[in-house]
Order: sequence, then structure tokens, then C-alpha cells
Amino acid sequence: MAQWVTIWRAAQLLGVPRATLQQRVRAGEIELADGLVSTEALLRLYPQAQLEAGGLLERVTRIRDEAFGRRVRERLLPSQEVLAQRLFRQGQELADTQRHLQRYHALVLELRDRLAQLACDSPDPRLPELQRQLNDGLARALATEPVDVLDVMDDVLKVVSAEVTLRPSGHQFTVEGHDTLLQAGMRAGLKLNYGCGNGSCGMCKVRITSGQVVRTMPTDYALSENEKAQGYVLACAHTAASAELTIETLEAAGPADIPPQQLVTTVRALRPLGADTLLLHLQTPRSHRLRFLAGQWVMLGLAQGEGVRARHPIASCPCDDRNLHFYVPRDAADPVAARLFAGAVKVGDAVTVWGPDGEFVLADETLPLVFAACDTGFAPVQSLIEHALSLDAAPSIALFWLATRPDGHFLANQTRAWSDSFDHFESTLSTSDDPARGAREMAAAMRADLFDIDCAFYIAGPGGFVDALHGELAAAGVPAAQLHAEVTP
Ligand code: FES
Repeated sequence: MAQWVTIWRAAQLLGVPRATLQQRVRAGEIELADGLVSTEALLRLYPQAQLEAGGLLERVTRIRDEAFGRRVRERLLPSQEVLAQRLFRQGQELADTQRHLQRYHALVLELRDRLAQLACDSPDPRLPELQRQLNDGLARALATEPVDVLDVMDDVLKVVSAEVTLRPSGHQFTVEGHDTLLQAGMRAGLKLNYGCGNGSCGMCKVRITSGQVVRTMPTDYALSENEKAQGYVLACAHTAASAELTIETLEAAGPADIPPQQLVTTVRALRPLGADTLLLHLQTPRSHRLRFLAGQWVMLGLAQGEGVRARHPIASCPCDDRNLHFYVPRDAADPVAARLFAGAVKVGDAVTVWGPDGEFVLADETLPLVFAACDTGFAPVQSLIEHALSLDAAPSIALFWLATRPDGHFLANQTRAWSDSFDHFESTLSTSDDPARGAREMAAAMRADLFDIDCAFYIAGPGGFVDALHGELAAAGVPAAQLHAEVTP
């Protein structure tokens, strides 16, 4: 009999991007019932899963290097305590199911005996017919059916990674390894509410409406008895103890929901990425994190004077909110860049961060995404791409990166790594000594295969580049709501 799983779980079982399955749902190739897809339908579309599962079944007795077994082994397993709790609950479910089955079986046998007696005592011809029907049904139910391999794989995954559903949004994510609910949600690109990340502010409170959680660290913030009775827990200090969990929580809808913050960070690394580009890596204290959305900016203030401040886009992913990366271009007019390039800032120095701000964030959409960057305009674009990859909701992601100076493609390796890891990611690197001309050439390259389909465009770089590309895309008929642009240093 077919089992039903969520799209999230289906993607994990088959080892395909969630966006690919969602695309097949939109194309009508996969039918959803209450948001769930049947394992039967999945096996029809992905018959190779049957073969891969051979690895799983073998693995039960002898670990083999088959695809699914490898995917399970590559996961970071939860702690022994969490694993034990999930196994215990799965065992409980199994025991309940077995008990029910035994009772149904006993009831059916009792009915069969009673029918046999009635058939002997009564000439009613319907009784032998009923007997036959019952015996045939019993034979069918007891016959050995082929194993639903996806169902078996699902059972294994339920132990190693729990599935969480958020209410009221319906967003879903899985909790892997030692992650807390908050970390797992952020890794999945969700905009969860939180503050300190270490159990002291209470801002990450969520209500568990079904499933069980287990605390992973002591906390200073004390929930009231009333809150505890209602099922509230701190998402930054708990993980899933059951295979499925539903929690009630509010998520940020956009930049307006992110509070302004100020924190003092430490320079963890400062190294050249090219002759005119520096990587500045700041780390927040353990007790404070910067909550921001991918694509946003902060004001950086050096400890060397009141006026040594400059606004820069964050290049890193919000899922790692303690480690903030910036790609700082050489610019004598920028007091922070000037001090950094002059060697006046060292590892271990303090840098104050104010923010975040900026509206250049991913819109809530499932269109193919096209990112266009020029030089260090790659910084916010990188943050957005990492966010989009975490969300796994875009059917395809294309990056066009223009360099107008010798070190303009200062992280070309990163784009190759994305291309190698994600089938739905493509990048095109180009060069030009003029940002506006480079933008027009980029638009011509995009025209070949992107203008005809509905895409959302995110453009970042110097003003000349942004204006020229924005103009070309608007002239080509891209709706204004699908054009997002940001001028960067
Ligand atoms: S984020 Fe502060 S208590 Fe969880």
C-alpha cells in the first residue's frame, strides 16, 4: 500500500532538489493530496530509487556503498540521546500498530468462525458467499507484498532527520545532526524570530503543537509556568525528539520586521582576495548575533575614531549569523576601506556594527532567479544566492558576473563550486572595462534564453552598471515587480 510523504521528505528520499519536485507538481506530473505525495507516484517517476534502495536493504545487514546508504552516512547524526528518543518513539508507534493489527486479526478470525457456524445452521445462500469473500480478503491481506522501498527509506530518515512544519506559514524544514530548531530553520533559509541565540533573551519562543522536543543546552531565560503548560519552548535551546514536529511561530515577512541592532564584533580575518579587494571577516560575541536578511547592509565603525564609518553589504549567509563577511573594494573616499588597505586594522581589533538595513532581499516567489553582479556587487548577490540555495524553492538559478578590473572575479572558485554542487545553478563570467557597456553585453547574453521566461532579476554593482542593465531589462518587458536592484561600492 502506498505511503504519503511531504515534498521535503520526498526530495530527501530521492536525493533531488525540492525545487525539481515542485516544478513537476506545477507541471501536473506529481499530484498532491493535502500537500502530500504518494510513494507509489514517486517510484513511477523515479524508478531508480528502487535500485538505490537496494543499498538500504543491504545496509540493514551489511553496509554497502549504495547511493541511499551513502546519503544517510554522510549526514551528521543527532546525539545519542536524541537518536534514542526518536527510536523509542518509532518503536512505540510500531508496537501500537502491531497491537492494533493483532486485535483486528483476532476479530476477523472470530467473525469467520461465527460465519461458518451460521452457514451450517442456515440455508441462506448469502452466507457461503460472505464466507468466500472474507477468506479471499484475508488471503490477500496476509499475502507477502513487495516492500515499498521509499517507505522503508522514510523510516530510516525519520530517525536521523526530523521534519518540522511551521504554523501558520506551512513552511517546512528538517533538523539534521546536532542542530537546534532555530539553527535548522535558519539553515533552511527561514526568517525565524530570535535574538541572542543562546537561551537568554526569550525572543525565539515557539509553541509545540504536536511532536516532542528535547532541550540541548541550559538556558538563562525562564518561561512562565503558564507558557510551559501551553507548550512553549526556546527554539535556540531545543531540538526535535520525534520524527515529526509542528510548531507555531511568527516569521519575519521582510526587512521591516528585523529590529535595528548594535554590537561590537572582532576581526577574525583580513586578507586580500585580489589587488583591490579585501575580505573582512567579523565575528560577533557568543552572546550576541546579528539578525539580518540575505542582501542587507550594515554600518561598520572602526575603533579608531568617530568618523571612521562606512556602510557595506554583508556577503555571508544569515544562517551563520556569528560570522559576517564583507568584500571591501579599494576606495580612498571610504574611510573604513582606506584604513583596511593601509594596514591600520589587525586581526583581533574591535569593529562596531549597526544595522541591518536595505531592501535588496529575496521576494517570496518561486520564479527562476537571475543574479547579475559587477565587481564587489557580488557581495550581496552571494548572500542572496546562498539564501536561495538554502530555501531550495527556485527552479533554477543563473549568475552573471561582470568584472571591470583585473580582480573583478575575486571569487570565481565559489561560482564553480556552486555549479559543481547544484544541477540547477549556472554561472557566466564576463569582463569589460566599462560597467555600462558590460551591462549591455550582459543583457544581450541574457536575451538568448532568459527574456522569454518569467524570471526574477537581482542586480548589484556600481551605478552605471545597475542603471544600464535595469534599463535593458525593463525595455525588454520584464515587469518592474520582478526587477530588484542595488548600487554597491
Ligand atoms: S534567541 Fe534568545 S533565547 Fe533563543
